[in-house]
Amino acid sequence: GWTMASFVEAEVKALREKLGDDHVVCALSGGVDSTVVAVLLHKAIGKRLHCIFVDNGVLRHNEGDEVVTYLREHFDLNLKYVQAQDLFLDRLAGVEDPEQKRKIIGYGFIEVFEKEAKAIPGVKWLAQGTLYPDVIESVSFKGGPSVVIKSHHNVGGLPEKMDLKLVEPLRELFKDEVRKVAYELGLPESIIWRHPFPGPGLAIRIIGDITRERLEILRRADKIVQAELKASDWYRKVWQGFAVLLPLKTVGVMGDDRTYENVCALRIVDSLDAMTADWSRVPTDILARISNRIINEVKGINRVVLDISSKPPATIEWE
Ligand code: XMP
Repeated sequence: GWTMASFVEAEVKALREKLGDDHVVCALSGGVDSTVVAVLLHKAIGKRLHCIFVDNGVLRHNEGDEVVTYLREHFDLNLKYVQAQDLFLDRLAGVEDPEQKRKIIGYGFIEVFEKEAKAIPGVKWLAQGTLYPDVIESVSFKGGPSVVIKSHHNVGGLPEKMDLKLVEPLRELFKDEVRKVAYELGLPESIIWRHPFPGPGLAIRIIGDITRERLEILRRADKIVQAELKASDWYRKVWQGFAVLLPLKTVGVMGDDRTYENVCALRIVDSLDAMTADWSRVPTDILARISNRIINEVKGINRVVLDISSKPPATIEWE
């Protein structure tokens, strides 16, 4: 029968045949998809795979670091960690429009990635973690609505621009199958079960202007959400769970003092493929713990609210 062990074996063989002695460049995002792509390709072509991880300044706490550390410790692969925080944050300063944020991050990524990839001699291929639902979505979009809800161009346009051929080892798999492949490859659970994280990162979870200070506030709140979901084993049950920082201050009381601070929204959803979603019925004691910890531990937030909207008509992210 069809098992993930036979998928790995067949895919590694197919990649070897397809790529021959060619060099391949791969953008690591920190997520399970690109990590599985990197490990599969490493098995197939070893050091002819070149991984690039770009820190765009809007990653959450530990996003990426864990994956980069894991790959470096377990595989002898080429991996470059590019620190590009300032480039992105300078360009994002003062930008409030969500699509503008996406464009700045999308194009900035292409710029940084292209520069790094061009410094590697003889690269012919770009590896991407495209999944089957992405293939379907882009096909159905042709006959579908012409309205762009959110432009997801993470590496869009890059292959043509750089004259690279695309290699997409996961394009026949669904997310749950990628996780099975990840198990088969021996990846740690913390990577296998990592929630999807959008390319534009925290930039679209800070509503309004993005400052380094607001990024730090959101990172600290989000870290608590992640920790409490993991501690309660709800992390795996939900599709995504995260904090959103609102451009709104409200009055609170701390001890004998009046506070006037930011509001943080919790967004925790169930979904199969992100096309539709519903808010997760997380037990109230867990919600209470998350709320108490954020308000007590994160300076700059004095109120936490829960998002109980389904998609549609809302979307998962707020921007
Ligand atoms: P929405 O907000 O459209 O999100 O319901 C659906 C899924 O996509 C993720 N998302 C993105 N991922 N680039 C990405 O790579 C993006 O610009 C982007 N916008 C949303 C979101 O986290 C959810 O999993």
